[in-house]
Amino acid sequence: TRQPRPEDKFSFGLWTVGWNAVDPFGTATRPVLDPWEYTAKLAELGAWGITFHDNDVFDFAATDAERHDRVMKVKEAADAAGVVIEMVTTNTFTHPVFKDGGLTNNDRSIRRFGLRKVLRNVDLAAELGATTFVMWGGREGAEYDSSKDLNAAFDRYKEGLDTVAGYIKSKGYDLKIGLEPKPNEPRGDIFLPTVGHALALIAELDNGDVVGLNPETGHEQMAGLNYTHALAQALNAGKLFHIDLNGQSGLKYDQDKAFGHGDLVSAFFTVDLIENGFPCGGPRYEGPRHFDYKPSRTEGMEGVWESASANMEMYIRLAEKAKAFREDPATAELLKAASVYELGEPTLAEGESVEDFLADASVYEDFDADAKGAREYHFVELYQQAMRHLIG
Ligand code: GCO
Ligand code: MN
Ligand code: MN
Ligand code: MN
Repeated sequence: TRQPRPEDKFSFGLWTVGWNAVDPFGTATRPVLDPWEYTAKLAELGAWGITFHDNDVFDFAATDAERHDRVMKVKEAADAAGVVIEMVTTNTFTHPVFKDGGLTNNDRSIRRFGLRKVLRNVDLAAELGATTFVMWGGREGAEYDSSKDLNAAFDRYKEGLDTVAGYIKSKGYDLKIGLEPKPNEPRGDIFLPTVGHALALIAELDNGDVVGLNPETGHEQMAGLNYTHALAQALNAGKLFHIDLNGQSGLKYDQDKAFGHGDLVSAFFTVDLIENGFPCGGPRYEGPRHFDYKPSRTEGMEGVWESASANMEMYIRLAEKAKAFREDPATAELLKAASVYELGEPTLAEGESVEDFLADASVYEDFDADAKGAREYHFVELYQQAMRHLIG
């Protein structure tokens, strides 16, 4: 299969290849390089962009001078390698101060501190030319229902997001916020557990126009949900600002496997949507193909780079197969037989009033429900057609 190229817009978080594999049961199995050391290798493998949290690059306790120095080293490495810094995000989960969250912490002084940390990184993101600012509320949540006034927590979440979004607008930054839902881990229950919950909250914001979604494959799947449907609803709402692609096998801990190394069939339909759009047209996702995975703890440095490449290879292979599936005339016939294109037609005719509709006997009085109840859709054959292309 072909090599990844810049037009593919593949990007990687520095925390993905940079993870030293510490988990709750074991110590590191790999060395940690300096953040700028990952950039050239990612570019060599075919990546177009990189992303990072503030504390992937400089320590929580870094002085302003250290912060500046280390950020510039990453920027210089990215420029030298010809990769863009497309997204920047804030770590509001590692330091003990955030053990009850940042924006929804019960302790007001911590909320104020957390908000300042986020705003500092909004400035940094804009300065580096990033166009997305991800907010993953990993510690915004609870283990114990008695520990939170939940109504107040949602008010504080909205207040925090509106403050950040309002700041971005007041500064005129070309930056959009991508909220990243996750149902649990590290908290027992995380607020905004799914794409649907996040969309509902965004609709209530004053500055929600610059707030959208960064859905992660495994996070929807941890909740037993369909990632492709989540992307579709975010697209339909005009809110799919960024994506985190990875792999997850069922309802387990957050596995963060390479893309496609979990539910392969779901990954096929995800790529089919991103690359080929909806069958009836409509909004498209044109942003980065961002991978947020973790090289498994069994892997050494060779495995880090093999797994990084695996993400891109899976995407390219699935894109080729999805394209062939869509271009196959037999697919078009089956889509037609399944009435998939018909779903793109409005249910009421153009200019048809409710009165006209109620007066139309063919709709109801003369409608043969039994005949229509016996119609064929050929959904299984259509799916099998996709599997033929997927298996090859
Ligand atoms: C996870 C999350 C995190 C965030 C990242 C961005 O796997 O639990 O995806 O990796 O995406 O920290 O803030
Ligand atoms: Mn994850
Ligand atoms: Mn993620
Ligand atoms: Mn992740």
